[in-house]
Amino acid sequence: MSAAADIVRARIGAEGVRLGFVLGSGLGALSEAITEEARFDYCELPDFPASGVSGHAGALVIGRLQGARVALLAGRAHYYESADASAMRAPIETLKALGAEALVLSNAAGSTREAMGPGALMALSDHINLSGANPLIGLGGGDACFVNMVDAYDPDLRARLHEIASTRDILLGEGVYAWFSGPSFETPAEIRMARMLGADAVGMSTVPEAILGRYFGLRVAAVSVITNFAAGMTGRPLSHEETKTEAIKSEARFRALIAGFAGSFA
Ligand code: HPA
Repeated sequence: MSAAADIVRARIGAEGVRLGFVLGSGLGALSEAITEEARFDYCELPDFPASGVSGHAGALVIGRLQGARVALLAGRAHYYESADASAMRAPIETLKALGAEALVLSNAAGSTREAMGPGALMALSDHINLSGANPLIGLGGGDACFVNMVDAYDPDLRARLHEIASTRDILLGEGVYAWFSGPSFETPAEIRMARMLGADAVGMSTVPEAILGRYFGLRVAAVSVITNFAAGMTGRPLSHEETKTEAIKSEARFRALIAGFAGSFA
């Protein structure tokens, strides 16, 4: 089924993985917390994307995190890189083929809420797809493409994230993430619209992967690391530089949350 999974299994053996992770901008250092067993550059794996955005390494790392066998997709391809919303299809299909039951997505995001500033962590409760794109368009999957998106962000996994956050004194909010295609940042008018529509955070990723994860039958959880107030909320311009530097500041808390989450699967 998955040519990439065959290559990975040939190196890591028959034992699969419990969880798969996709890391957002500036959050790749999580791979340092993993006791690494194997690493594959995306270019070694059939149909994996070439990811060129700074802050994204482009490697599949297999190893142990708090005792659980995990697969980490360090580096994601974004819709804005190729106009292909299904760019992460092969990596996510590979996680499923390796036996993952859950997919944990992360991203750097802008906050639309005054009370949720840079440094906040937000578990996604739902999303709004403002991009007009969908990774399942043209996939030719027949009726399987009509994927249910009620509770797309698994309520049990969300509860588990909150439980781990509270036992570790990590502040974890919850909210709705709106996907804009990027790569330009949003305008202040778009952010006012997103807020009126019920978005708590905005970003350029995660949603296509959540849809693909549900398509492949994975349970999905996602965490936003808030790196900035969204466009127009402060007097300052937005930049990818700020996204990366602010994400790194939250990395230790993010890592503790994710490691604890992985440990609950050991
Ligand atoms: N908008 C979109 N993507 C982002 C932002 C933002 O404000 N911050 C980090 N990624």
